[in-house]
Amino acid sequence: MTPKRVRVHHLREAKQRGERLTMLTAYDAVTASIFDAAGIDMLLVGDSIGNTMHGYRTTLPVTVDEIVVAARAVAGAAQRAFVVADLPFGSYESGPEQALATAVRIMKETGVSAVKFEGGRRVAAQVRALTEAGIPVVGHLGYTPQSENLLGGPRVQGRGDEAAEQLSEDAIAIAEAGAVAVVLEMVPAPVAERVTEILAIPTIGIGAGSACDGQVLVWVDMAGMGDWSPKFAKRFGEVGEALKAAATAYADEVKGGTFPDAAHSFDA
Ligand code: KIV
Repeated sequence: MTPKRVRVHHLREAKQRGERLTMLTAYDAVTASIFDAAGIDMLLVGDSIGNTMHGYRTTLPVTVDEIVVAARAVAGAAQRAFVVADLPFGSYESGPEQALATAVRIMKETGVSAVKFEGGRRVAAQVRALTEAGIPVVGHLGYTPQSENLLGGPRVQGRGDEAAEQLSEDAIAIAEAGAVAVVLEMVPAPVAERVTEILAIPTIGIGAGSACDGQVLVWVDMAGMGDWSPKFAKRFGEVGEALKAAATAYADEVKGGTFPDAAHSFDA
């Protein structure tokens, strides 16, 4: 995919051409511009900002204000990527009016191209209301972290015929309501493959196998920032170790009196 700026129609066209979509989370301008320059198609200002950046145990405490600040930075930095912002827990579940009010605020104050929220048939009315108001919606099915208390923590969803059928029906409901793409999280690969075949909109998998139309990872997992990563998140680098080495070298030079040297100082 080579558009100057990825727009909503490019997502469906990529699926039609069998071209895989790439998505990473981003929460600030620095990482957003690096991932954008790397050619990542979609950047997600996810509510995973809560666990990854703010030190919360779950995504539940994340506020709309926190998403707005991060989304404005990411959308401002991205030249090409399609930027999506999460609607955090408590900001859309009451109904279409609440979802619309939250989404309108995020669109007005940040410059993102779409919003994402969790759920299937239960939020189809919200998907429809936003779509009718001109706001593209990305769905999120399978393991939905905002429901972690009900689901009993991060567990594979859609296992077994009945659960797989429910997941397909949820996917169809939000696609029919106007969703432009759907994230499938921690779903058995054959179930994600079936959903991908049924839908005309792209599926973006995270722990959902290789048949999805695209893949998303939380960037700190992808880059190897922490000691631990979930099973589905391959570490494509060891950036945490590299950062620690840089910080250690800096501290050693300051303590040893070798930084700053003449090359990093100003003459009279
Ligand atoms: O918030 C997030 O990072 C997400 C991804 C896990 C898809 O929703």
